[in-house]
Amino acid sequence: MCGIFAYLNYNVKRDRRFILEILFNGLRRLEYRGYDSAGISIDSSSSSDPNGQLSFSPLVFRQEGNIDSLVKSVYKDVASIKLNLEELFCVHAGIAHTRWATHGEPSPKNSHPQTSGAGNEFLVVHNGVITNYEVLKETLTRHGFNFESETDTEVIPKLAKYVFDKATEEGDQSVTFSLVVLEVMRHLEGAYALIFKSHHYPNELIACKRGSPLLLGVKELSEDMHSGAPFLDLKFISENRHPKELFLSSDASAIVEHTKKVLVIEDGEVVHLKDGGVSILKFENEKGICGNALSRPSSVQRALSFLEMEVEQINKGKYEHYMQKEIHEQPESLTTTMRGRLKRGGSTKAKTVLLGGLKDHIKSIRRSRRIVFIGCGTSYNAALAARPIIEELSGVPVTMEIASDLVDRQGPIYREDTAVFVSQSGETADTLLALEYALENGALCVGITNTVGSAIARNTHCGIHINAGCEIGVASTKAYTSQIVVMAMLALAIGDDAISSQARREVIIDGLFDLPNKVREVLKLDQEMKELAKLLIAEQSLLVFGRGYNFATALEGALKVKEVSLMHSEGMLAGEMKHGPLALVDENLPIIVIATRDACFSKQQSVIQQLHARKGRLIVVCSKGDAAAVCPGGSSSCRVIEVPQVEDCLQPVVNIIPLQLLAYHLTVLRGYNVDQPRNLAKSVTTQ
Ligand code: F6R
Repeated sequence: MCGIFAYLNYNVKRDRRFILEILFNGLRRLEYRGYDSAGISIDSSSSSDPNGQLSFSPLVFRQEGNIDSLVKSVYKDVASIKLNLEELFCVHAGIAHTRWATHGEPSPKNSHPQTSGAGNEFLVVHNGVITNYEVLKETLTRHGFNFESETDTEVIPKLAKYVFDKATEEGDQSVTFSLVVLEVMRHLEGAYALIFKSHHYPNELIACKRGSPLLLGVKELSEDMHSGAPFLDLKFISENRHPKELFLSSDASAIVEHTKKVLVIEDGEVVHLKDGGVSILKFENEKGICGNALSRPSSVQRALSFLEMEVEQINKGKYEHYMQKEIHEQPESLTTTMRGRLKRGGSTKAKTVLLGGLKDHIKSIRRSRRIVFIGCGTSYNAALAARPIIEELSGVPVTMEIASDLVDRQGPIYREDTAVFVSQSGETADTLLALEYALENGALCVGITNTVGSAIARNTHCGIHINAGCEIGVASTKAYTSQIVVMAMLALAIGDDAISSQARREVIIDGLFDLPNKVREVLKLDQEMKELAKLLIAEQSLLVFGRGYNFATALEGALKVKEVSLMHSEGMLAGEMKHGPLALVDENLPIIVIATRDACFSKQQSVIQQLHARKGRLIVVCSKGDAAAVCPGGSSSCRVIEVPQVEDCLQPVVNIIPLQLLAYHLTVLRGYNVDQPRNLAKSVTTQ
């Protein structure tokens, strides 16, 4: 949901082409966060002395469409204004943005950087939403500012100019860039990550955030630096003038190829990059996740941390698309999710689960009156898939909440509840609001996320990282299966003190050990799913029926198909079929029924019978060897997809994979962009 990026080289010569390419590359890495429009700002002229004053003005390039459209238009514009691509900069600060439109349609004027007006005195790239922008706009308009865009962001650079002009009018010629931004921040409400560039502060950048994610990457170019140490003192970095490159980014995927040394910027912090140094100011008395800042700023010292991510994770490798790669790497992502957490062997307790992030809270979770799962979209579906096993092994009632609906209803959440927040990005605005609400109501809050350092990871009392690796395809695939596995392990950990279920738990643990192999096996259906996609390519609609553990599979399979292939599809609870949906059934509408072996198998057999009796066009996902048992009229009456059988609570992990493959192939065959579905973006940081 919008990606922001910046690059600052200090004491190292870079030409304009190099700087442009670094900015474009950063945007390409962030493109999955939004791809409606994009823009950059670079400088018009260079300086031979990194500390010298220069007469330059920032140039702005903005374009509707994806990053490739921006790149083409920038090179065209650069040629038309005769900018020299070989011109060298000893120090240069560039900013960039890729947009998922919230306020105002995708167009150059609504793209970022947004500016304070003529001369580009202040420029801002923004991820998030400013909720009080209308009030600010009204005030600034009264002070003579003209607004050109329909965005909420435009108030920010204009407010910065207002603050700067006021300070200098009042005789404060030495007002620093960070003081201007701190004052701007005091007036902003909502969620945001911002990067500022200014004509008044050449070669400086400011980054700040509240609610939306932002990272600083530090690449030291001098040989005598202690580059081997995983954790570096930011104070040291801020005091040296060695050549370096600094990167700001919405997420690690745009930084990791340059450096692994990062600072995860925290809410309320204002990070100032100047003269090769990094300084951090922060408001005291920070309020909640999305609250307003208060009182005086103070300076902050923190250490850099080390990214646990490899560049290969963010490349497509041998695959054509990220979604395809992420579907096929599920045996490995599941293995990583379970690594170090399952114990088989030992004398006293043969098989057990260790979830380090929960060890101090597991007893409280066991004692809670209710476990409430809260999430959106695919993350909600993953929790739904895990609900039965959590109920079974914990004995605690489990309820499900879609995050936005819980907040809309202000539904009951009590001190005695454990509220589990499931979110791949850990930054979803609806889930964050629900978290704020649950914290206010005193519940024990547990986070299940794929993003270390994300807002949900930081603001919950305890949690489990799903460790599925970076997921770049907008449609979630490997994060979904890893989430289910994490929640199955959560069920095992909660139920760990019950002798009566020990045998069942051990069977599940064995099943978890074997799961990556079963997933490898089911991935062999790739070609078969492509053939099925060819048959379905022209369909308007698709139904998916599931129940029990696989109600979630029906919802998630249908969500995958609709979000990427743009074919209407609905996941339905099979038990509800006769209560309405049966009216849709005829010989044309394709219907997928999930009927693998579990306690609901015979009920699914009768659903299939009833659909068959109405000449339903059936596609049945069943356990290996069950084709005859699920096809009432023999193989001509329905198409069968046979999958390996695993323990019932793990079967949703196996069953979703053919549907992920179907969604993928349908999309490619229909000619749509599978990694960037229309109107969507990863990490939905607006409500
Ligand atoms: C669909 C998908 C979304 C997300 C949802 C919540 O493929 O990925 O439905 O699951 O937007 O996002 P997270 O999990 O980041 O909270």
